[in-house]
Amino acid sequence: MPRYAYVNGRYVAHGEAAVHIEDRGFQFADGVYEVVTVHAGKLVDEEGHLRRLDRSLRELQMPWPMSERALRLVMRQLIAKNGIGDGIVYLQITRGQAPRDFKYPKGVSPTLVMTTRFMNLDPVEQLNHGVKVITIPDIRWKRRDIKSVALLPQAMGKQKAAEAGAFEAWQVDDEGFITEGCSSNAWIVTDEGVLVTRHASNDILNGITRQSLIRLAESAGIPFEERAFSVAEAHAAREAFLSSATTYVTPITQIDEHKVGEGVPGALAGKLREAYLSYARSEGAS
Ligand code: PDD
Repeated sequence: MPRYAYVNGRYVAHGEAAVHIEDRGFQFADGVYEVVTVHAGKLVDEEGHLRRLDRSLRELQMPWPMSERALRLVMRQLIAKNGIGDGIVYLQITRGQAPRDFKYPKGVSPTLVMTTRFMNLDPVEQLNHGVKVITIPDIRWKRRDIKSVALLPQAMGKQKAAEAGAFEAWQVDDEGFITEGCSSNAWIVTDEGVLVTRHASNDILNGITRQSLIRLAESAGIPFEERAFSVAEAHAAREAFLSSATTYVTPITQIDEHKVGEGVPGALAGKLREAYLSYARSEGAS
């Protein structure tokens, strides 16, 4: 089956899809993106992702490349053309193509690129054994609430994690508090059984999965606090897990050299993953 990408109004063979060398995404990382999960052919949390996309665009004074309705349609067409059952849609919008000049150019159309990828949404090994994370200094800019394509610090962090045999790196602010993973939000369960994740601010990306999990935890009556937690608190946690569109809820069994709890995936993480899966299959999917 041929694989298509969507580039500025056209469906093209993935291997030949390209944007111009003076695209501002290429030269300045002047662009934003979203990753939306496709579960059994349906988009998960589409609404949340589009609301966050709109916010990212507004924060950077970038226009939508097409109407929201048309964009929803293109996502669906690409999923169908590429025969995606379980996977992701990646969409990126940049300010467009213009001669290299730092300030925003006038009269330029934004670039819209969309791709899809198959993904195993049930990685048995990771779910049965949990994953390892390491902690690293957070060296990013101060507008982490914008889902910008400027991801070099995260690429460096993920590389460090891979070299340490870890799945993810949790970034730590100057006060010793964890902000988030390089491509996921960070969660712990305290010894008292309280679920904790950092509050939304410019310090983190407000994950769409994170927001859905908060709603699900609240409706399940799980004790919950939205606040910063330290590396020491994470090391001593009963449970830990990470969340994102691509990982849903993934249990963590080791943080740096510390075993989390008994070193096996936590019960609450398992419960939240199940709750998210059933939400994704029903009202969260469209
Ligand atoms: N990353 N924090 C960061 C820094 C992220 O890059 C992501 C997502 C998240 C989780 O957000 P969400 O639940 O909306 O996926 C948190 C995507 C998956 C990526 O870059 O591939």
